[in-house]
Amino acid sequence: MADDRRPHAPEIEKSIPESRNVNIANPSMPIAEAPGLTYQQLLDREDIDPPPPPVSRFHNPVDLGVEPIKASRYTSREFFELEVEKMWLKTWQYTCREEEIPNAGDTYVFDLVGRSVLIVRQQDGAIKALQNVCRHRGRKLATHGGCKSRLRCPYHGLTWNIDGSFQHNPFAWDFPQVDEAAFGLPELRLETWAGFIFINFDADAAPLLGLLGAYPEHMDHFQIDDSYKAVHLGKVVNANWKACAEAFLESSHVIGTHPQAASYAGYDQVQYDLISDHVTRFVVPMGVTSEVWTGPELSDEQKIRAALGNGSRGGPPGAALAKPLREGQTMRNYLAEIARENLERDTGYDFSARSDGELLDGFSYDVFPNTHIWGGFTVKICYRIRPYGMDHERSLLEIFLMKIKPKGTNPAPAQYRLLGPDELLADAPELGGSYLGGLLDQDVANLGPQQDGLRALGPDGELTFGRYSDMRCRNLHRMIDDYLAR
Ligand code: FES
Ligand SMILES: [Fe+2]
Repeated sequence: MADDRRPHAPEIEKSIPESRNVNIANPSMPIAEAPGLTYQQLLDREDIDPPPPPVSRFHNPVDLGVEPIKASRYTSREFFELEVEKMWLKTWQYTCREEEIPNAGDTYVFDLVGRSVLIVRQQDGAIKALQNVCRHRGRKLATHGGCKSRLRCPYHGLTWNIDGSFQHNPFAWDFPQVDEAAFGLPELRLETWAGFIFINFDADAAPLLGLLGAYPEHMDHFQIDDSYKAVHLGKVVNANWKACAEAFLESSHVIGTHPQAASYAGYDQVQYDLISDHVTRFVVPMGVTSEVWTGPELSDEQKIRAALGNGSRGGPPGAALAKPLREGQTMRNYLAEIARENLERDTGYDFSARSDGELLDGFSYDVFPNTHIWGGFTVKICYRIRPYGMDHERSLLEIFLMKIKPKGTNPAPAQYRLLGPDELLADAPELGGSYLGGLLDQDVANLGPQQDGLRALGPDGELTFGRYSDMRCRNLHRMIDDYLAR
């Protein structure tokens, strides 16, 4: 399998900018990270052979200050409407994957803050984004995707071609004002990156790729182009979209929310980075025990079993180890070995040159405002968070998993399913009972009570963010303010 290994593309990785540990308040002082070992020191200590690549060595914390955050940003209708007008309708929005609309006429309906867009595959293979509203009396042209030979409004039958040009009006005699050549469906900006289709309602928006900094290079390293959507679930959450997004922008909540995971994940060593104004990340190391672990004294074998099994619902740890821990072998190295073997078996590729951290660690990235596409090799966890319709106190949380395609195959993308209000992610068969569903349920369980608390603070209430651990959350607010000021 040695020849199948994908090269590191060193010429690309060189373009990742150097770290700048900048403390704006006091430039002579670095930003405080948690006491004890840093992620980089952990890599020095643990990931000797193979060594970590530049994408793991990248570190760019930026001090965004410690100013309080107003609670009304999550509860005010007026603030929400400003976000809609100045931010949601001006930023790049991920819609669907290219492979979800493979054939000419395939359409995907994308709804956002009351707007609706049709993503349509064209005869020549190009993709267009068209306003999903009939120009007669305003019915949505389509409520669901599917393969269409034309875009015919179900109400009175006015019809457009799949390229958006006008085709037919059964009552053309009654529309003397219509110039059919100019009666097409308005087209929106559309860009694709790594199979992800993004649109922008703003015709003057800066190009998407220019906003992503080195993120595409990071994700190229993690073979995003060779990945497919394996699972796609949705859940309506009773909280403002920012509260929901923030639940996935920091990992300090693990101590309170997912304490079971602290026995096999290093939440003290989490590293937070700014990739560009629009892209941030954290990296959480797996296969090490957090200082904050307050559970019973566990042997390495017990922790490994918890990591491999399902500790997320407080259930019993997994089955006995399939192969014994070697003398002197660390938990991290053992888990990486298992991950490497599983990946090689599942994909047919060679991962022998990948460091332990690349195979194990959680590389959480987000593209402002709401698209989180993780790196890593084992499973790329992805989230998309947006307001639920025009409700400023509810949001739609989508979870999708990207996995590397087995060599020589092209698996169909997973169908989307919206879970019911009482349905737990832990019970979703799509997640196969994995630990992830239980973790996500724990995340969701915070959000309704958080929104209640934010409301309870009243219009003058203020929140107190951590300087480092909440850096990504603060960047979300910083970027919203940036758009609101434009
Ligand atoms: S509203 Fe579409 S044809 Fe009348
Ligand atoms: Fe969580």
